[in-house]
Amino acid sequence: MDRRGFLKAGTFAGIASTGAASRLSAAASPSGLEWLSSRPNLRADGTLRLSANENPLGISPGAREAVIEAITDANRYPGFRQKELISRLAARYDLRPENVYLGAGSTEILQMAVQALAASGRPLIVAEPTFEDVPGYRRPFPYRFVTVPLDFRYAHDLERMRDEVEKSNRPSVVYICNPNNPTGSITPSAEVDAWIHDAPESVFFIIDEAYYELVDDASYWSALGWVDRRRNVLVTRTFSKIFGMAGLRIGYGLAHEDTVARFKEFQSNNSTTQLSAAAALASLDDEEFVARSLESNRAARAVVHQTLDELRLGYLPSHTNFIMHEIQGDLRDYIARFREQGISVGRPFPPMLGYNRLSLGTEDEMERWAETIRSFRARGWT
Ligand SMILES: Cc1ncc(COP(=O)(O)O)c(C=O)c1O
Repeated sequence: MDRRGFLKAGTFAGIASTGAASRLSAAASPSGLEWLSSRPNLRADGTLRLSANENPLGISPGAREAVIEAITDANRYPGFRQKELISRLAARYDLRPENVYLGAGSTEILQMAVQALAASGRPLIVAEPTFEDVPGYRRPFPYRFVTVPLDFRYAHDLERMRDEVEKSNRPSVVYICNPNNPTGSITPSAEVDAWIHDAPESVFFIIDEAYYELVDDASYWSALGWVDRRRNVLVTRTFSKIFGMAGLRIGYGLAHEDTVARFKEFQSNNSTTQLSAAAALASLDDEEFVARSLESNRAARAVVHQTLDELRLGYLPSHTNFIMHEIQGDLRDYIARFREQGISVGRPFPPMLGYNRLSLGTEDEMERWAETIRSFRARGWT
């Protein structure tokens, strides 16, 4: 048996012995991924989704059971579960509940911050390219929007961002997406720390750590060590990625208690639900599921690397569950051709129009992607 076969068989054997998994295996998927708690990574129309950086394994079996259990409370407002989750998160990070707040995905946390910090002419400084939500949420507000290209490492160019703050000589907002979407690259945490250390509180740092749990690199760590010391740092995290809950909508922010109180003025009441909070509570300490997700991600990434190497297409080192890789030819044609083959592979991220951001599915799904891109090469398309 080859290494991949061994890994798969080993994983299945281990999981099949648990009660939850054997109940789930009643709905065995055709690919043999008996422990998957979700449908295979398909849209309702059958399209394979390799475009939204989701976890192809679905939610953990424990979270699934917790959701079913929590349905009994669907007639009740979710305050008590939210409170429990906030306490658990605070304890996990050695913070107090006042340092933690929830959102319908981390995107809501980002939105609240953008709204709360808005002021006429205030610089909002972001990398280019980066995740689009913060730039999107600023549109109704009179920010002065500043983009700074990533540096040669595809890290945030913190020196240039810092210059922009200093040039403006006024309170500023800086968005650091670490790891960065769509490049999958990291900005060394020591550099982020150095800037936060030096900065006055009039520079506000929004640090987006949506992919934090996927990073395995000694130069990377969380910025959360700052949040109880400084009022000008917000760290955002999500259950959408490693915990496979993108459809349940739950994320959180970690910040100084004064900052949390200020941003919560912009929160809608009860935007997280009984079900999302129950699933989050069941997932938080599920190390087995996290390990399985990481292993699946590594195996999928290896298939993509091998294929891109074979086709001599470059790619950026990925610290996430997606890979930014070179294509040859027109990006829109490339995306449309994959669509014709029933695979959704991404969207353009200007100015990197010679690259496609490919989200990682399961290993088998990436083999399907690999066969398809090889067939494109045979036709001279990429
Ligand atoms: C960098 C980054 N931040 C935040 C989000 C928002 O995720 P959610 O609202 O599902 O937590 C995403 C989603 O793709 C992302 O890539």
